[in-house]
Amino acid sequence: MKYLFSIFFIVATLTVEAESTVAEQANLLFRERCTACHLDDGYGLKSMKVASIAGLPRWYVTQQLRHFRDGKRGADAADTEGQMMQSMTQTLDDKSIAFLGKHVQSMRPLKARRTLKDGDKTLGEKLYQADCASCHGDKAVGVRSKLAPPLNVQIDWYLQGQMIKFNKGIRSHHGGKNPTAAQMKDLLAYLSTLSKEEVKEK
Ligand code: HEC
Ligand code: HEC
Repeated sequence: MKYLFSIFFIVATLTVEAESTVAEQANLLFRERCTACHLDDGYGLKSMKVASIAGLPRWYVTQQLRHFRDGKRGADAADTEGQMMQSMTQTLDDKSIAFLGKHVQSMRPLKARRTLKDGDKTLGEKLYQADCASCHGDKAVGVRSKLAPPLNVQIDWYLQGQMIKFNKGIRSHHGGKNPTAAQMKDLLAYLSTLSKEEVKEK
């Protein structure tokens, strides 16, 4: 019995150690490869159009990193920021990507996400429920089975920039509708009122 207990103890200790090594390695990798642009807290940099990534779900982060690396996102000559991410991901293997996904998911999302003016949040909510909720979820928490990311953790100017890319055909929106410039402002006014704390992710 004593022997069995010792074995259990050793296995449990090793598991805990392995977990902390993953977290440490992920943290190190993020600092080495990502903080220059996304900053330590993952909130990004508007002057360089760097996305705020803190709190995005692991499945989406790993998928997008693979898409950048494999040329499925950021390949368009007009996608300057996408190309930046393409070059940053070229030497990432799948294991590193998995570590980074876990790390980014664990970061606390940005709270104040409204930087743009104008826009009617009531109109935005109506439009969102009619045209977006079927894929991104009622409260914009994202729906993994549709591969649609949450829109309740990202900063508004970045989301606007991506919608403009969808409209121009620089990035693929996988069947999502493309709002007009005025509709975008309404949608963003509404999306900025939602936050990750309110709802659990699906
Ligand atoms: C040279 C600057 C730079 C570095 C370094 C960088 N990024 Fe980025 N990242 C960007 C920019 C700019 C964007 C916005 C791309 C766009 O507009 O499509 C972005 C976008 C992203 C996105 C997509 C966010 C979304 O909502 O779709 C993820 C995820 C991401 N970066 C993760 C990382 C990780 C993880 C690292 C480290 C391996 C990293 N980035 C390193 C500049 C950088
Ligand atoms: C048919 C499903 C679908 C619908 C409807 C849809 N989307 Fe999307 N959306 C997606 C998918 C899938 C992605 C991820 C694209 C990728 O993998 O690059 C996405 C990505 C986005 C992004 C980029 C997020 C980021 O972090 O980079 C924005 C912004 C967005 N959608 C806004 C909207 C808005 C606003 C509406 C309603 C007007 C809408 N979507 C409707 C499926 C949809």
